[in-house]
Amino acid sequence: MDSIDWWRTAVIYQIYPRSFADSNGDGVGDLNGITERLDALVSLGIDAIWLSPFYRSPQADAGYDVSDYCDVDPLFGTLADFDRLLARAHDLGLRVIIDLVPNHTSSGHPWFEEALTAAAGSPERQRYLFRDEPTDWQSVFGGSAWTQVPDGQWYLHLYDVSQPDLNWRSADVRAMFEGVLRFWLDRGVDGFRVDVAHGLIKDDTFPSYPETPLGVLAKANAPYWDQDEVHEIYRSWRAVLDEYTAADPSRPRVMCGEANVSVPRTARYVRPDEMHQTFNFPYLTTPWDASALRAVIDASLAAYGEVGAPSTWVLSNHDVVRHASRLGYPPDSPAGAGIGIGDPQPDEELGLRRARAASMLMLALPGSAYLYQGEELGLPEHTEMPDQFRQDPNWVRKNYTERGRDGARVPLPWISSAMAFGFGAGEATWLPQPTGYGRYARDLQEVEPTSTIGMYRSALALRHEFDLGRGDLEWTSEPGAAVLAFRRGELQVICNLGPDPVRLPAGAELLLSSSPDVEAQVPTDCCVWWRAQP
Ligand code: GLC
Repeated sequence: MDSIDWWRTAVIYQIYPRSFADSNGDGVGDLNGITERLDALVSLGIDAIWLSPFYRSPQADAGYDVSDYCDVDPLFGTLADFDRLLARAHDLGLRVIIDLVPNHTSSGHPWFEEALTAAAGSPERQRYLFRDEPTDWQSVFGGSAWTQVPDGQWYLHLYDVSQPDLNWRSADVRAMFEGVLRFWLDRGVDGFRVDVAHGLIKDDTFPSYPETPLGVLAKANAPYWDQDEVHEIYRSWRAVLDEYTAADPSRPRVMCGEANVSVPRTARYVRPDEMHQTFNFPYLTTPWDASALRAVIDASLAAYGEVGAPSTWVLSNHDVVRHASRLGYPPDSPAGAGIGIGDPQPDEELGLRRARAASMLMLALPGSAYLYQGEELGLPEHTEMPDQFRQDPNWVRKNYTERGRDGARVPLPWISSAMAFGFGAGEATWLPQPTGYGRYARDLQEVEPTSTIGMYRSALALRHEFDLGRGDLEWTSEPGAAVLAFRRGELQVICNLGPDPVRLPAGAELLLSSSPDVEAQVPTDCCVWWRAQP
């Protein structure tokens, strides 16, 4: 924890608690499992962890349906377990960011239960979005975004029917969340990842909008995404965070928004008095194409630079097909909505080669990068999970037409020869692991210098040594070329997305390569870091 603006350059590792490590053998990962294995993350060289939700929840959307924002669900442990995790992480020099889910509560939240028993127009109903008539708005998970209650009114849920949207024009809602922020800040967290940050305010004229909202990148102009009034909420939260930062300036408290909007619009969430970071979904959704990648990198650096914020970069998370599988498809293939038995399968070897190159490209960029648990193993998606195991509400709500996100959420392989590949004390895993996961287990990779984890570890060490999180990027390849080449100070990068090998400049000292056995030539789908020999 060396720098007070750590978040500008941080590599932040997303832990999906259900699937990281299971300490009690019930098949679901838990907080103690995380605490026990934090050392593995420190040795990787990351700066911070982000924990997906572990709060009390009926688990209808894997914890993104919260019924008590200030307690730990017994599935994951206790508040005391959380405190131990936090203390251990801090001892090890890791910052801890937790997930805040302000767009909706669970239908099991006491407020929603009160709203259901209260009358139309009551203060209890005004905390949510109840109306006498539904609109034509669609849920992100499929079907109408409105559900009728017994007295005839309808409530809005942009996600599952069990996730009623809160009314962010209600003073009760604002006060409740300020309390939630303070509760966790007082416990010592370093910040928040804000779920659906672009969705809190809805156009209160409720205009017609029949289009289906996209899951990963929201369309502009929807009456429930990216409304100007959301920014005022983040300004008020920033003031709360700044209070804590002022009390201990060595520990700035930060916010990162999940604002699934286009690049110039995302930058509005990170103006100096709002959030610190926002996810760069346009980068995640860019195909493996040199011109497209160059364009999104330039656009991101320009847009974030204009407001004085760092750009962030991300390739995988718990909502998308893992990049090791996504990149194993030909261009334009519809892998975004999940993969299952009977679907075209990715080329696993090609996917891994490209994923390693893509990760090295990302880690060479200035700003902050987000890693999703398992990507350091080169882990593919579970692309042949039998459908009866699926738990993502998308699968049911979209009438079994979209496989959804379970394939990216499978418990991690730690030990190739152990039960459940060492995920937990027992045999149980809440989602089945593919048999092929044994090959990717951490224990095998730890002893193999050219393994994917070895590559990530070396990349993070070099990123630190050359201070790659800061400074400018200078292109040395031409626009339109199939090769991306740039300089980051002394360190230079060549990422070859074209069909032909590229010769390394004479006298180049190779620092790291995404493919083994690279010497004078950089092959297709390979990224190298090099410097001129002194
Ligand atoms: C965010 C989460 C996703 C969840 C949704 C609703 O997009 O990342 O997992 O389903 O919000 O809370």
